[in-house]
Amino acid sequence: MHNTSATNDGQETRLLLENVDDDVEEQVKNGAESSQRGWERPALVSFTALGLLLLGGFFYLSNQPNASGEGPRGDYLWNGTHEFKRTVILVSIDGLRADYLDRGLTPHLLDISKQGIRAEYMKPVFPTLTFPNHWSLMTGLYPESHGIVANSFWDPASNSMFMYNHPEASLNASWWFGEPMWETAEQAGLKTANLMWPGPPVTSSGFSPTYHVPWRDKVPLEEKLDQIFKWVDMDVEGRPELIVAYEPSLDQAGHAHGPMSKEVNETLRSVDKFAHSLHHEVLARNLSDIADVIFVSDHGMADTRVTEWILVDDESMLGSYGDEEPTWDVVTHADGWPNMGLRFRAGTDQRAVLSKLMRAAKDPRYIGKFDVFNVAIPMPERYHFSASERIAPVWIVPRLGYALTTKESGEGGPSHGDHGYDNDEPAMRAIFVAHGPFSTGAKGIASREGKLNGWHSTATDEHIVQGFQNVEVYNLVMRLLGVDDVAPTNGTAGFWDAYLEA
Ligand SMILES: *[C@@H]1O[C@H](CO)[C@@H](O)[C@H](O)[C@H]1NC(C)=O
Ligand SMILES: *[C@@H]1O[C@H](CO)[C@@H](O)[C@H](O)[C@H]1NC(C)=O
Ligand SMILES: *[C@@H]1O[C@H](CO)[C@@H](O)[C@H](O)[C@H]1NC(C)=O
Ligand SMILES: *[C@@H]1O[C@H](CO)[C@@H](O)[C@H](O)[C@H]1NC(C)=O
Ligand SMILES: *[C@@H]1O[C@H](CO)[C@@H](O)[C@H](O)[C@H]1NC(C)=O
Ligand SMILES: [Zn+2]
Repeated sequence: MHNTSATNDGQETRLLLENVDDDVEEQVKNGAESSQRGWERPALVSFTALGLLLLGGFFYLSNQPNASGEGPRGDYLWNGTHEFKRTVILVSIDGLRADYLDRGLTPHLLDISKQGIRAEYMKPVFPTLTFPNHWSLMTGLYPESHGIVANSFWDPASNSMFMYNHPEASLNASWWFGEPMWETAEQAGLKTANLMWPGPPVTSSGFSPTYHVPWRDKVPLEEKLDQIFKWVDMDVEGRPELIVAYEPSLDQAGHAHGPMSKEVNETLRSVDKFAHSLHHEVLARNLSDIADVIFVSDHGMADTRVTEWILVDDESMLGSYGDEEPTWDVVTHADGWPNMGLRFRAGTDQRAVLSKLMRAAKDPRYIGKFDVFNVAIPMPERYHFSASERIAPVWIVPRLGYALTTKESGEGGPSHGDHGYDNDEPAMRAIFVAHGPFSTGAKGIASREGKLNGWHSTATDEHIVQGFQNVEVYNLVMRLLGVDDVAPTNGTAGFWDAYLEA
C-alpha cells in the first residue's frame, strides 16, 4: 500500500532521484534543481517537522483562511506550503504501442506504473488514427458520434473536406461534435489548460480552455515540461485543475522508420525520460495525493516495411473490363488512409461498384487482404462506425500487411510504419499508465476487497488492470476532478466504480 505520510513521500522522492540519469537532470533544468535542493536531508527533516506541526494543528488550521500561509482554507488541499485543488495532468504520447513498454527501454514509465497503476493496454477506436482517437479520449465518444471519422474525410453536409493538416479550416468548431473534457470542466467552473492536444481551440458552444498553447511541430520536450509546471506553479486561483498535453515525436519516428527501428527505440527512451521528469516534478512538489498524472497514447504502430500493395484501379478490382460497369473514375473521394472510404460521382450505380469490389474480395489472390463494407455488408459492430453521414458509403479496410493505392498514386504511402487498421489488432493497442490519488485509492480498494480485475503483485505492489476502451477515459477524469454534471458518452456506466471510492 501507498503510504501517504510526509516522511514516506520524501523517501520515495529521494529514491526516484537516485535513479535519474544525467541527461534527465539536464532536461529538467533549472526548475528541477531548485526543487531537488528542497528535498535534501536537512530540508526533509524540517518538512517532516512541519508535517507533524500541521497534524497537531489540523482541526484548527483546516477551518482557517490561509492568511498566514500556514494551512489550507476549508475546501482546498494542501501540499505542505500551498493550497491546491484536485488536479489531473493527462499526457498523450502519440503512437506509443502497448508492447513498446516491454522493450526494456522505458524504465521510468514502468516505474511510474508500479508506483501507480497501468492497463495491459488501452483499446483505440476505429479507425486507429490520431485525430479520431484524440477526440474520443477528450469526449468519450466513438467517431460516428464525435464527427472526426478520419484524419481526412469529405463532409457531404458542408460540401467540404476535413484535412487535419489544414488547421485554418479543420480547427473550425463546426467539425468537432461532442463535449471535450476541458469544456465539461470549464462549465463546472474549473480552469483548464491545453498544451497542443489535437482539437479546436473553441467548441461550437463557445467554450475554450482557460490556457491554450496551439500545435507547433518539433517543440522540445523540456519546453513542454516548463509550460506544464508554469501552470502547476500558478497561484491556486489561476492554476488549471485539468492539464492536457500532447507529444508527437514517437509517432513521427514510427512512420518514418518503423516500429522496430533504432529511431523508435531512441525516441522511446526520450519520451520515457520526459515522463520521468514530469512525474518527478510532481513528486518534488509533494503532489502525489493531489495530482493524478495519466499517460496515454492514441494507437499503436504496425511494421509496414513489407507491405503488399493492392491497386484498386487494377482490372481485377475497379479497373475497366471494357464494359459498362463503373470504374475507379467514378470515385470522387477516398477517405481515411490507410483505409479507403469511397464516395462516388452523382448518378453512379453504387451496387455495381460494390459487386465488382465483392467479386475482387472473393478472388483467391485477394482473400484475407482486405474487407469491403457498405450498408449491405456492415462494419463489425465493435467498430461503432456507421451512424454518421461523414462515413463514406463504401469502405475498403486493408488487413495488417496490406495497403491500398492506385496506379497513379503508386506505392508512396506508409514508409516503414503505419496505423489506422482494425482496432482489435494487438499492434494498434495504446497505453494507459496512471499515478496519483486515483491509483492509491484503487489499490487500497483492491487490497481491501480483492476484486480489482487484472493482475497484482503483493511483492512489488505492481498493478496491471485488464485492457479497456479509450472512450472510458473521459468519465475517469471527470470523476477524479469531482465534476458530476457530465456529457453523455459511450463509456460504460459504472466502469470506474470498482476503482474509486463511492
Ligand atoms: C505533503 O502533503 C501532505 C498533504 O497532501 C501534507 O500532509 C504533508 O505535510 C506535506 N509534506 C511536506 C513535506 O510538506
Ligand atoms: C466555420 O464553419 C462554419 C460552418 O461551415 C462557417 O459558417 C464559418 O464561416 C466557419 N468559420 C471560419 C472562421 O472559417
Ligand atoms: C529496438 O528494440 C527492440 C526491442 O528491444 C529490438 O527488438 C530491436 O532490434 C531494436 N531496434 C534496433 C534497430 O536496435
Ligand atoms: C507546493 O507546491 C508549490 C507550487 O507548485 C511549490 O512551489 C512548493 O514547493 C510545494 N511545496 C512542497 C512542500 O513541495
Ligand atoms: C454513443 O453516445 C452517444 C451520446 O450519448 C449516443 O448518441 C450514441 O448512440 C452512442 N453510441 C452507441 C454505439 O451506443
Ligand atoms: Zn497518432
